[in-house]
Amino acid sequence: MLRIAVMVSGGGTNLQAIIDAVSDGRISNTEIVRVISNKAEAKALERAKKAGIEAISVVRKECADTEEFNSRLLAAIDEVSPDLVVLAGFLVVLPPELVNRYQNRIINIHPSLIPSFCGKGCYGLKVHEEVLKRGVKITGATVHFVDEGCDSGPIILQKAVEVRDGDSAELLQRRVMEEAEWKILPHAIDLIANGRVSVVDRKVEIR
Ligand code: GAR
Repeated sequence: MLRIAVMVSGGGTNLQAIIDAVSDGRISNTEIVRVISNKAEAKALERAKKAGIEAISVVRKECADTEEFNSRLLAAIDEVSPDLVVLAGFLVVLPPELVNRYQNRIINIHPSLIPSFCGKGCYGLKVHEEVLKRGVKITGATVHFVDEGCDSGPIILQKAVEVRDGDSAELLQRRVMEEAEWKILPHAIDLIANGRVSVVDRKVEIR
C-alpha cells in the first residue's frame, strides 16, 4: 500500500480528484495518510475532513521565522512516514531539506506544459494569464517529480488542452483542470503505487 501525504494551499480540487479516484479504484494500492495545508482556512482541509482524512495546517505567520516554518513542515511529513508526497496546488517553495530527504518521492501538478509557463512566480491563475498574453493555442498540465529547482524535475505525465477564442484566465484554468489536471495527477499516483514509474538519468520511464 502506497502511503501518500498531500500538500495543499487552497481550493483543493486536485485533492478532491485524488480522493475520488482512491475511492472508485482508479487509484489502487494507495492510502491518503495526511493532508497538510499552509493556510488554516483552505477549502482543501474541509474536503479532507469530509473524506475522513487527517488534515492539519502549518502556517508561516504562526511561526517565528522561515526556519521554524520549514522544520514544522518537515515534521508534519516525517510524522506519517509517507512513501510519496503529492503537491496538489501547494503554492510554497519546499525547504531544500525536504526535497533532499524525499528524492524522487515528491510529485507536483503544474498547470502548463513544462518547460513553458513555469518557474519562479509562475503558478496558479498567473500561468493562464501568461498563456493568454502570449497567445499560444495549446496549453495543458504536467505532473513531475520535484527536484532542487523550480518546476525542473523529471516529467511523469503531460496532457495538452486547447486555448479557445474568448477564454478568460479563469475559464482556461477550469478547462485545464477538468481536461488535464484531475486526470493526470490521479493517473500518475496510480502508476507509482503499482511500481510502474522509475527515474533513469533524470528522465522518467513508465512500464
Ligand atoms: C492548480 O491549478 C495547480 O495546478 C496549481 O494550483 C492550482 C490549485 O488548485 N499549482 C501550481 O501552479 C503549482 N506551481 P486546487 O487547489 O483546486 O487543486
